[in-house]
Amino acid sequence: MKKLLTTILSLGIAASAALAGDLSLTAAKVSDKLDAVNVDSAVWSKAKFATVVLYPQTAIEFNDKEAIEANKDNKGKKAQVAAVHNGKEIAILVKWADGTKNVQGIKCTDTYSDGFAVQFAGATKKAQPLPYIGMGSDGRPVVVHLQKATEKVYEPNGNKDVSTQINRQQTGVFEKELADFDAKVASLANTDFERVFVGEGFRSLTEIKDKSVKSNASMKYNDKAWSGALSRSLKDDYMNASGTVPVAIAVWDGTKHGRNGLKLLSSWVAINLEGQKANAAIVAEATEATKGDAAKGKEAAEANGCNGCHQLDKSVPAGTMAPSLVNIGGYSTAAYLRESLLKPSAVVVPGFNRNAHSNTPWYNLEKGKRISTMTDYSFLDKKTVEDIVAYLKTLKAEVE
Ligand code: HEC
Repeated sequence: MKKLLTTILSLGIAASAALAGDLSLTAAKVSDKLDAVNVDSAVWSKAKFATVVLYPQTAIEFNDKEAIEANKDNKGKKAQVAAVHNGKEIAILVKWADGTKNVQGIKCTDTYSDGFAVQFAGATKKAQPLPYIGMGSDGRPVVVHLQKATEKVYEPNGNKDVSTQINRQQTGVFEKELADFDAKVASLANTDFERVFVGEGFRSLTEIKDKSVKSNASMKYNDKAWSGALSRSLKDDYMNASGTVPVAIAVWDGTKHGRNGLKLLSSWVAINLEGQKANAAIVAEATEATKGDAAKGKEAAEANGCNGCHQLDKSVPAGTMAPSLVNIGGYSTAAYLRESLLKPSAVVVPGFNRNAHSNTPWYNLEKGKRISTMTDYSFLDKKTVEDIVAYLKTLKAEVE
């Protein structure tokens, strides 16, 4: 009996460790070239998969009734993630279940596509703390590689910005002529929807179009699941990675109107490059387990009025005073949560349009700097802060 109990307990622990959501994994060292890797490449047989849990990003509620309805019971989703590197390039494979395949047509504007993104911490003198998971933060840039499942598009100028050159309502071209035109465009189509952005926080996401980033992304749907592969250089103008590469993974579900912030998102995952010295500080930040007492933290959060501004529990409406925290523990590191309490303005979470919610702005501008309207909790004693951080880490949806 005792043995059985220990086995059950240790299984339980193994399972919860696997579900921790923020972890580290190893990118196997390979000698293959990785610039043309896709989901079917043989190189993946050399990689080991790890489970990464992605949680609904719930900081702000979309102004879209159908989307709110479709996403209200969202759960966490397990993705299988593997990585390989060859010293110059890294390739990452992400697999996630999705019961419906949504590929956006080039002519449709009212449908949404499935997609995935891999976010890397960008080049910076100070590798830590890691950037804000949303899209980086001042002085802590991120590079985001986004791949959406779209039909191939015809882009004669190679700028990835021309999809179709006919106004279907007004050109007077019908039936056979239109079908011929569509067939011609389809036969010329060559570029899929792959984008690279660099961001340093709030409204700063900028697409990199000058081909200075060498990357390759692709997606494939098979047996009710997507696989997405991405490869990129370890070093370029925007990134300078060695030892340990921190990444975050996001996926979008077209069936649920997924787009922009309406996605499932992981916390930072530390990928150690096999054969190189791991960056222990980054691994520690990505994998830190909280030591505080979550039950005491819950009491302290109530006593200190967090729920006056934040949604902490789904049974209470989200409101516009502050980001909803119902999944904050799923996609944030303990270090970030601690910083949110002690230095609220270090990262100002992108929120609602200030003009639309002028009574509840999330920040004020002082001499051009965004100053958070959140109470500064640096007056709390260390123990209470750790208890609240432990409590915040428990705030996340169940995993499907
Ligand atoms: C006066 C309203 C107010 C109170 C009280 C308040 N907050 Fe906040 N909080 C905000 C606002 C506004 C933001 C968004 C701006 C920013 O990033 O600072 C925020 C941001 C955060 C974030 C970052 C959220 C994200 O999506 O990344 C965390 C974590 C957080 N608060 C935790 C707390 C905790 C825990 C308490 C209680 C100890 C608390 N807050 C009390 C207003 C408040």
